[in-house]
Amino acid sequence: MAFSFTTLRSEHAAVWRALKLEGVRDFPLGFLHSEAETLATPIDGAKDILNHGAMRGVFDGETLIGFCGYRPLLPERIRHRAEIGPFFVTAAYHGKGAAQVLINGVIQEAVAAGIEYLELFVDTENDPAIRFYERQGFERTAMHPDGVRIDGVSRSDYFYRLRL
Ligand SMILES: CC(C)(COP(=O)(O)OP(=O)(O)OC[C@H]1O[C@@H](n2cnc3c(N)ncnc32)[C@H](O)[C@@H]1OP(=O)(O)O)[C@@H](O)C(=O)NCCC(=O)NCCS
Repeated sequence: MAFSFTTLRSEHAAVWRALKLEGVRDFPLGFLHSEAETLATPIDGAKDILNHGAMRGVFDGETLIGFCGYRPLLPERIRHRAEIGPFFVTAAYHGKGAAQVLINGVIQEAVAAGIEYLELFVDTENDPAIRFYERQGFERTAMHPDGVRIDGVSRSDYFYRLRL
């Protein structure tokens, strides 16, 4: 399948919000926002988020099937780094190369911007995501205990980074 990669803008707000809602419902370990928080974000709030230019999308034709937050760090002392996340591909497209197109797009953009590390947190039990990131070459450099609480239940995550 041929997938395309692009920066999401305000015109994508409705489809992006719907896809994010699917993600937070189906894969709560993959997101920091709860379903209630996502539902509470009005469409204008989603437009504002996308207008900041920090969300990338992967499409099958005209259909948005996945997205990745991409945030280069701005202060001079940490300008060699960028954070990514959330990172999500709709379940029907798992194992089909869409996630690869999404991460490749972000990597190319980061390299072009002179960034040297892509960084992310992933839940210690999110095995498919961990396998995906490790296959890309991300290396685990730290564990972050009790970094997230889902409905009050403590969770830990790993910090991973990719040297570009
Ligand atoms: C992380 C994610 C984008 C990876 O996308 P993907 O297309 O599944 O990536 P891959 O095809 O490389 O598969 C990754 C692993 O999941 C497994 N997998 C793929 N499709 C699967 C499916 N339908 N059911 C179970 N496992 C599956 C693969 O076998 C692979 O493991 P392996 O390397 O041991 O074979 C996707 O799993 C996802 O969107 N997850 C939900 C959101 C999330 O958790 N994001 C990470 C936040 S940090």
